[in-house]
Amino acid sequence: MRSKIVAGNWKMNKNLSETETLLAELAAKLPDTNAEVMVAPTYINLIGATRCLENSTIEVIAQNMHFAESGAFTGEISADMLLSIGVNTAIIGHSERRAYFGETDAILAKKVVTALAKNIRVLFCFGEELEDRKSGNHFAVVESQLKNALFSLDASVWSKIVLAYEPVWAIGTGETASPEQAQEMHAFIRKTITEAYTTKIADQVSILYGGSVKPGNATEIFSKPDVDGGLIGGASLVADDFVAIIKAI
Ligand code: 13P
Repeated sequence: MRSKIVAGNWKMNKNLSETETLLAELAAKLPDTNAEVMVAPTYINLIGATRCLENSTIEVIAQNMHFAESGAFTGEISADMLLSIGVNTAIIGHSERRAYFGETDAILAKKVVTALAKNIRVLFCFGEELEDRKSGNHFAVVESQLKNALFSLDASVWSKIVLAYEPVWAIGTGETASPEQAQEMHAFIRKTITEAYTTKIADQVSILYGGSVKPGNATEIFSKPDVDGGLIGGASLVADDFVAIIKAI
């Protein structure tokens, strides 16, 4: 059985005291759930967050990491640095990293290889832009993003990969993919993985949906058979909303 996961990507939001306050509230209100719950605060608050959540099942994860082991990469964070503070999962390939920081499929492929070599679990994001969907290219775009960054990997590492399909047009816009659109794409992703690897791998990988998931639409999106959870932006910054989304799964 693949894992159900609800992850909050806090992006560039919340200073240290706000982080502590939100995490204390989340930890106190966390419902009983079989799903894995994760939060991704900004880098400088990762240590503080891991301390706040020492007695909680909520996992602290990173929003990004560099592909190099160490060295002259001003402003960057390595896999070993994350591991040294107890962070074992990293988001890689978020569309904001691709759009604003020039992260190409080739760069992302290197990041994924490094993360997996260090035994860091990868939460890999991808998804089409509005023009791709309008022109009917969304399946081809998603397939090429997966192929370019992931399909050279050995089958054995796929147990350390979680996928997050995030259509760019649905991120922070209030517009979500319909549950049917999400299901259609998630089923396509699973089929693509089956073709590149095996049905077993495709069936075991968790595929999250991201893009304006809110308490009001989470239940319907999560009810789809190939949607294994969500990567939540804005709504993860409000404890009651994030908790409601966790309850929805
Ligand atoms: P929103 O939920 O704010 O649309 O953000 C989604 C996202 O980018 C999560 O990584």
